[in-house]
Amino acid sequence: MSQDSFPQPTGRPDLDDLINVTTAHSGDATAAAAREHRNPGADKEPLSIAAFALCAVMLVIGGTVIGKTSGSLFDYGASVKPNYVRGKAPGVADDIALPPKPILDLYVKKGQSLYSAKCNGCHGADGKGDGVNYPSLVGSAWSTGHSERFSQIILNGLQGPTSTGKVYGAGVMPAQGGGMSAQDLAYIMTFVRNSFGNTVGDVVTAEMAQAAIDLAAKRPDPSAPVNADELKSYEKDLAGAKMDPTTLVDPITLKPVEAKK
Ligand code: HEC
Repeated sequence: MSQDSFPQPTGRPDLDDLINVTTAHSGDATAAAAREHRNPGADKEPLSIAAFALCAVMLVIGGTVIGKTSGSLFDYGASVKPNYVRGKAPGVADDIALPPKPILDLYVKKGQSLYSAKCNGCHGADGKGDGVNYPSLVGSAWSTGHSERFSQIILNGLQGPTSTGKVYGAGVMPAQGGGMSAQDLAYIMTFVRNSFGNTVGDVVTAEMAQAAIDLAAKRPDPSAPVNADELKSYEKDLAGAKMDPTTLVDPITLKPVEAKK
């Protein structure tokens, strides 16, 4: 079929006889393509995986920095107005704080669970040891005597002989001070001195326990256990203000409170 048999429409330049199709189409954009709108996303690469990875790394670093430096971001106190007092739920008593307790009772109670975790295994739940490998802490002169001496046994361990002159088991108690806070040491010491029939009646405060930890750190060889000779230099009570064992304290803050009627 020849072209001549069709009437040629006019006004369509690219189909005009005068246009050499080969020439017209030889450029980068053909006439037809040139008439079209460009695909708006054609020159955009898909987001590269490296960009995702970079974002992830920045989020992790940013999160860490915020978390470390400004703990206040998640701090309730920092996000409310100063002096804001939270309203009480209806029907809740005026004073919802726990009732205050005598400091001695509270320390003994707290010390009990720490003793169970730290000392029970060797000295027994009743504190009596086994008489062969582990000495009794009941009535033991070094448990109930000078608090400084007692503290250094716990913190550094003990190379026998013990207060009775007897050497037990392998002859050495391993140090128990690792990771022990002053407050925990205070609880444990107060517990042992006032349990199993021991009735020293004093409270070893966190301040005194801190003095004990400082003292242990200053020993010439802090990793060696103490022995009877060294213990002679600790025959005194720990530095720090003594506290009346009947002082009423808040069970949470441990701060003394006024007695309530
Ligand atoms: C791994 C076992 C073990 C653990 C745990 C342990 N002790 Fe001992 N403790 C001993 C041994 C053994 C001796 C005796 C060492 C010797 O004969 O040389 C001893 C001795 C003592 C003495 C000396 C008693 C005296 O009158 O001479 C005291 C006080 C003491 N321990 C307190 C504690 C306290 C408090 C704890 C917990 C914080 C504790 N011990 C945890 C094994 C242990």
